Amino acid sequence: MRITGILIVFIIMLTLVLMPGYASAVKLDKETGLVIGKGFDTVKSNCTICHSAMMITQNRMDRNRWLETIRWMQKNQGLRTFKPDTEKEILDYLSTNYAPEKAYRRPPLKVEWE
Ligand code: HEC
Repeated sequence: MRITGILIVFIIMLTLVLMPGYASAVKLDKETGLVIGKGFDTVKSNCTICHSAMMITQNRMDRNRWLETIRWMQKNQGLRTFKPDTEKEILDYLSTNYAPEKAYRRPPLKVEWE
């Protein structure tokens, strides 16, 4: 009986430790490497025409900077103007899935050059 109790506590603890991992598991599109989530189809069909999706997956920006990037492409690279709904969907997707990392494992090293 004691063993069963210990086992149950152990399993509960293990579940608690592993759960955040499951919650944050993301699915990636095999073809583009983009995170599959709300707005994925819209981004895939509008943002991989001129360049690879790596332009997106290798970047991390907040919503404003994503918007600036889109405006920059519209002004200089011939990106078309989106309907407000479409633009919102794209920005929601980008700022959710490609936001700047908040937590660092350790603070950046302070280097002093002599
Ligand atoms: C009409 C063509 C076109 C489309 C469509 C397009 N882009 Fe771009 N984008 C470009 C060009 C050209 C560059 C510059 C590539 C380079 O520097 O080599 C670029 C660069 C980028 C960059 C890098 C910017 C930087 O500061 O280095 C990102 C991020 C990006 N695009 C995201 C997107 C997203 C998100 C979409 C969909 C909303 C999109 N692109 C759709 C033409 C396009």
